[in-house]
Amino acid sequence: MTAPQEGTSMTQVSTAPAATAVPGPTGRLRGLLAMSGSPLDYVTGLRDQYGPVVRIPLGWRELYMINDADAVHEVLVTSHRNFTKDVMSVGRGKWAAPLEVILGNGLVTSDGTFHRKQRRLIQPLFHHERIAGYGSAFTNLSEEIQSGWKDGDRLDLHVEMTELTLAIVARTLFDVSLDSDEARTIRTGVPRHEGPLRWDSLPFAHHLAKLPLPGNKRFYEGRDNLDAIVYRLMAERRQGDGQGVDLLSLLIAARDADTGEPMEDVQVRDEAITLLMAGHETMASTLTWAYHLLGSHPEARERMHEEIDEVLGGRLPTVEDLPRLVWTDAVLSEAMRLYPPVMGLARRPLDDFEVCGHRVPKDSFVGIIPWVVHRDPRWWPQPELFAPQRWLENLPPAGTADELTGHAVRPGRPRLAYLPFGGGPRQCIGNSFSRMEGVMVLATLGRLWEFEPVPGFAVDPLARITIRPRHGLPVSARRR
Ligand code: HEM
Repeated sequence: MTAPQEGTSMTQVSTAPAATAVPGPTGRLRGLLAMSGSPLDYVTGLRDQYGPVVRIPLGWRELYMINDADAVHEVLVTSHRNFTKDVMSVGRGKWAAPLEVILGNGLVTSDGTFHRKQRRLIQPLFHHERIAGYGSAFTNLSEEIQSGWKDGDRLDLHVEMTELTLAIVARTLFDVSLDSDEARTIRTGVPRHEGPLRWDSLPFAHHLAKLPLPGNKRFYEGRDNLDAIVYRLMAERRQGDGQGVDLLSLLIAARDADTGEPMEDVQVRDEAITLLMAGHETMASTLTWAYHLLGSHPEARERMHEEIDEVLGGRLPTVEDLPRLVWTDAVLSEAMRLYPPVMGLARRPLDDFEVCGHRVPKDSFVGIIPWVVHRDPRWWPQPELFAPQRWLENLPPAGTADELTGHAVRPGRPRLAYLPFGGGPRQCIGNSFSRMEGVMVLATLGRLWEFEPVPGFAVDPLARITIRPRHGLPVSARRR
């Protein structure tokens, strides 16, 4: 499914001083169990114990976890051509990675020259002016979802945010509304954590995905229903006037800059499903974690509400308001630092390379875990503390700021010490779209509502492909 790898003769291995083997724990089964159980504490502990690069035996393979921001830069940016995302093919073996079973050969899963061609084709769909056009979808759909809430309601905010972000993606991608048949199928059809996606971190996932288990059956049925909808919508768009502004219409209309060729239908399907999957759950998690943190930091929540009241004066936000929603934006940045929605970035080196004085072999499984990188105390003083003021560019008058204020925007911090959206040529294409969506949802809902945590409920992060709250986020909704 993946485009042929590009050959590379490049190697980062230097001769002096000799690179040493990467340190790390022993025990193949222990690593596998820890990673499929609750990996976040495990990997953070390994960073503390072993340093910037850690070798973690996982069943039949080793994971080389890169924790140092400069080393991350080397992998994602400087030497990116030495890495492929195709981590499941090694030697003669090539198995469909679990994500490919649903995403096909879209932007997230493709590689090499094919990926570069597709990225060039799709990038213009995410230019600032283009996505600014979706601003009203962010606010209108937020308004719609909150219209069903009553003062004092007990809500599961993870469920509500999943519903909202799905409605947003259904509208912006396919121009269908939440109560349409299409949206219903999309809602039930999006395979969440079933079938192949459930075992993504396991090396034998491709075998498990073929077993006739009920979860697998639901997964494949859901995928087939989704495909049917996407192909039907594509056919409708082709018969239309070609003026549609939803992302599906734009994917159909996109032409390669060199050849003038459009994408084949199956490729439009893969890209559309990729955007649907990539843009929905990540965003739902981001908003849920932001509300979790605001719930336990009432002063930050107060400040956000004051800002929203002051900037909006009660009306709905527009894209023009974004530059003034500074604190709301900082809340979002800090939520994504503490709870980066994507669990890990996986790469396979095409050649041996050297990093932080250690040698990492060709064909190994290299992983970057933003959760760990975002807690590096060299760049993040009091790393566990939720402190949106780190992100403030315009500092308050002297004497009114703490030492964390503006810390994240001061020069000197390596760029990839913060990477919720990844980095380099494979950086998230939905980066600006998500930031805009996040701030506009927080501002729209914040005009009217505040959410109180349920006493005694402990939120437990579940880390799989994304990091989401294992048992949701129950809150009491209070009308402001
Ligand atoms: C808070 C929300 C989001 C987060 C945290 C996030 C995070 C990421 C990360 C970390 C990557 C890089 C993965 C890697 O290098 O291995 C990525 C890639 C990608 N994301 Fe997002 N994402 C978000 C929202 C979105 C949205 C809204 C869309 C589309 C509507 C989207 C579409 C994509 C695509 C297509 C890629 C693959 C890009 C490529 O490789 O060229 N994401 N995302």
